[in-house]
Amino acid sequence: MTTTRQASADETSAARDRRVLNLYEQLLEIEQRLIPTGLHVFGRPSRAAERIDMLRMIASFDRPEVGARALPVLVAEGLGITVSKSREALLEPSEEQTRQRERVDSVITEALLNLQDHGIEAAMECLGTSANVGPAQSRPVFALLEKISKQLESNSEIEALSKAMRGEYVSPGPGADIVQNPAILPTGRNTHAINPYSVPSAMAFARAEIVVTKLIERFKEEHGSYPRAMALVLWGLDNIKTQGEGVAQALWLLGVRPVADSLNRITAVEAIPLAELGRPRIDVVMTISGIFRDLFSPTVQLLDKAVRLVSQLDEPDEMNYLRRHVNEQISKGEGDFDEAMTRVFSNAPGNYGTNVNFMVMDSQWQDDDTLGDLFMTRKCFAYGRTASGEVIDGREARVAMDNALARVEATYQNIDTFEIGITDVDHYFEYLGGVSKAVEKLASNRPAIYLSDTLSPDGKIRSLEETVRLETRAKTLNPKWYEGMLKHGFRGVAEIEGHVSNTFGWSATADAVDDWVYTEVAQTFVLDEEMLARLRELNPHSARSLVARLLEANGRGYWDADPETLDQLRDIMGSLEDQIEGVA
Ligand code: BEZ
Ligand code: MG
Repeated sequence: MTTTRQASADETSAARDRRVLNLYEQLLEIEQRLIPTGLHVFGRPSRAAERIDMLRMIASFDRPEVGARALPVLVAEGLGITVSKSREALLEPSEEQTRQRERVDSVITEALLNLQDHGIEAAMECLGTSANVGPAQSRPVFALLEKISKQLESNSEIEALSKAMRGEYVSPGPGADIVQNPAILPTGRNTHAINPYSVPSAMAFARAEIVVTKLIERFKEEHGSYPRAMALVLWGLDNIKTQGEGVAQALWLLGVRPVADSLNRITAVEAIPLAELGRPRIDVVMTISGIFRDLFSPTVQLLDKAVRLVSQLDEPDEMNYLRRHVNEQISKGEGDFDEAMTRVFSNAPGNYGTNVNFMVMDSQWQDDDTLGDLFMTRKCFAYGRTASGEVIDGREARVAMDNALARVEATYQNIDTFEIGITDVDHYFEYLGGVSKAVEKLASNRPAIYLSDTLSPDGKIRSLEETVRLETRAKTLNPKWYEGMLKHGFRGVAEIEGHVSNTFGWSATADAVDDWVYTEVAQTFVLDEEMLARLRELNPHSARSLVARLLEANGRGYWDADPETLDQLRDIMGSLEDQIEGVA
């Protein structure tokens, strides 16, 4: 009896420790999240404090192109810390790992401060003394960081714009995220994309494996089995910036790898044997943006080839969900093989976007299903090839898409940059929210919705709800973020209002916003007299829209606000309208 009680007391205390550790991890995550603290001002270089954060992010990845290894890895090795690569360690770090990570982080901070204040030699010495990292290892990474730091200090955007307007030559530069590819610096160049035949790059494919493993393991943990079918959103600019990480994730889900031809162009795929894959192949429905369709037409064909290959592999049903679904559909008499294997959908040729964002922003819908229907109407055009090799270039395929999405259990999109997250623009909810809403109706079940953050080197997966909470804490309600925005005056208030409306978009499409989010938005921006006075002085129009959005959130049942708060909001709404109309 005593031992049982003792065991359960120990268990409780272990469980409590785990909860505290989880909480601590979440706080760290919010604290360490890199957020834009203001808008980019054309022609103005970044400030010193922003540069350190940026350099830390850049240094957290290996840079084989300059022979530099990731600083956290160098420091961990120098300190004799072995980083466990086991699945368990990847999914749930222990207290010991958290402590070690903090130790590594503090060494890196010190070295970066040395680099900024005293230069490369001082930074190398610092790393030698505090982490036993020799100069042969540290020089390449600090040389890279020093170069980047210098490039960030200068800015020739205005000069380049003037040149372009005079019709003079502007030198080209790659378009990407700075962390993904520091070669985008200096800015102010003529942005070019990438060769679609190089997509996905070897690095993108390697990184996608980690993300996909975590994604399906997380689903399995939450639902008890692998997702049989998933819907993915693929964007053009994201796949340029990441050299095709989104594409690579789709390939990994299907269990195929890219194959280059004799001209080194990626034009084919081969199946990864099931024994090597160690899990079933997932059925993947891809909704691609109009920009992706236009920029990546060889990649569209590659994805279609991957689907065609996997659906014809001679494998057991329980290890190849795609093949199973295609066969089931054919045997039910619902179309031929070409119809049953259609998995790549976009807009009609020449059309872009889902329009779900416009419908939400203009409050032009009654029933939430309308949003999913609009998504389908806009996005149900098939791309790929027929069995006889004929190109399908935007054929309307509503039934095929209905069938494919009806099986979907999870939806997913890759976030490629820290600069733009799911509440910064309305495009994430129009796409990922739109497809999730469509699935909810077609599959008669709301799908699990996930996002990943390919910026953390360990490729973290979050549910949509977690991501909304994180974005809310790290940006919308974070004084560092909103004060940074308010420095821009009129435009800054519009940015804050935009965040609230985009958050509302996640209620409308996916019911993914907790009540406290709206409550705290109301408290921070509207019910705080001093803040409200600032907002109405800087931009009464956006202030009015923000209050209207909160009232709409309540009216549509997304936010259960108390009557007193609602009365206050209505009064404030009235006085803002009076102010705008010049009555007050
Ligand atoms: C794209 O790059 O595909 C994209 C950009 C903005 C909105 C939607 C899609
Ligand atoms: Mg709710």
